[in-house]
Amino acid sequence: MKTLPTRKRVPDTKKARVLVVGDVMLDRYWFGDASRISPEAPVPVVLIVREEARLGAAANVAHNCAALGARTQLLSVIGRDENGELLVKLVREKGIQGSFHRDPKIRTTVKLRVVARQQQLLRLDFETQPSREVLASKLADFSQALPACEVVILSDYGKGGLTHIARMIRLAREAGKQVLVDPKGDDYSRYKGAHVVTPNQAELREVVGRWKSEADLERRAQRLRKKLALQALLLTRGKDGVTLYTAGGAVHVKSEEREVYDVSGAGDTVIATLGTMLAAGARLEQAVRLANRAGGIVVGKVGTAAISRKELFA
Ligand SMILES: Nc1ncnc2c1ncn2[C@@H]1O[C@H](COP(=O)(O)OP(=O)(O)OP(=O)(O)O)[C@@H](O)[C@H]1O
Ligand SMILES: [Mg+2]
Repeated sequence: MKTLPTRKRVPDTKKARVLVVGDVMLDRYWFGDASRISPEAPVPVVLIVREEARLGAAANVAHNCAALGARTQLLSVIGRDENGELLVKLVREKGIQGSFHRDPKIRTTVKLRVVARQQQLLRLDFETQPSREVLASKLADFSQALPACEVVILSDYGKGGLTHIARMIRLAREAGKQVLVDPKGDDYSRYKGAHVVTPNQAELREVVGRWKSEADLERRAQRLRKKLALQALLLTRGKDGVTLYTAGGAVHVKSEEREVYDVSGAGDTVIATLGTMLAAGARLEQAVRLANRAGGIVVGKVGTAAISRKELFA
């Protein structure tokens, strides 16, 4: 069965339609020169010479789907502020269809790094929870967006944008869509009924406890998978690749050796590739292998990044 030719075919990602929902973030970088100490306090003075902004969290997931060729819609909440506008502009530039609720009561989530002499001096975080009313209207948008996709990716960064996640999973399943979740926190009961949940090792440890051996891990992972009625649990294991747990057992896929520059956002790339390939009609195991390959490629890039179809199938 494993060598059926249809499995080897390269999935046509142009046909894939993916809906990404979750907490979006803007990763900002201010680069400058620090050549003197402030007269006001014992801190360096940085003269900013260059700026960069990248899509983060769920927006990075959407960016990765779009870069692979999927028609991608991103549903999220942002503030009515300058950072929100910048995020909307970047989303448009990446070819993502953005559906944003602008909540005047919150700030758009931003991580701003000040970098001088290749060193991060400071990171400033801005974030606030979206309000109840805005989240409720987001649920209505979700129902409307559902018919136009095959796969729903729920990217939980624990910032409050996925308060209604249990209902979203139910609605998506009723509409016959595949649901993938990148989890956060120690309460996974709200992910019940999703098709695939993709924790990393630290995230899984938080819910199933510390495992003593590979066999112990498999028992714990399978117990969680059954309890949540998932089709699969995909554990991402950093430099060790991924392990897929399904009713058929565990399948381990090793990572592809390469030079690592920056591991941040690798998990986003994995779930985005998985979702795009499934939406393009790939079988789960083939999609997992491609997702693992994509994760290995993206860690060779600096900062949160996306990879193209061409790079993935090279
Ligand atoms: N050092 C590495 N070498 C090769 N591949 C890697 C390495 N680190 C990560 N990967 C690839 O990326 C995938 C996801 O990495 P990881 O398990 O660290 O996810 P994560 O912690 O959710 O990442 P993040 O939250 O930073 O996006 C791995 O399963 C693997 O395919
Ligand atoms: Mg992650």
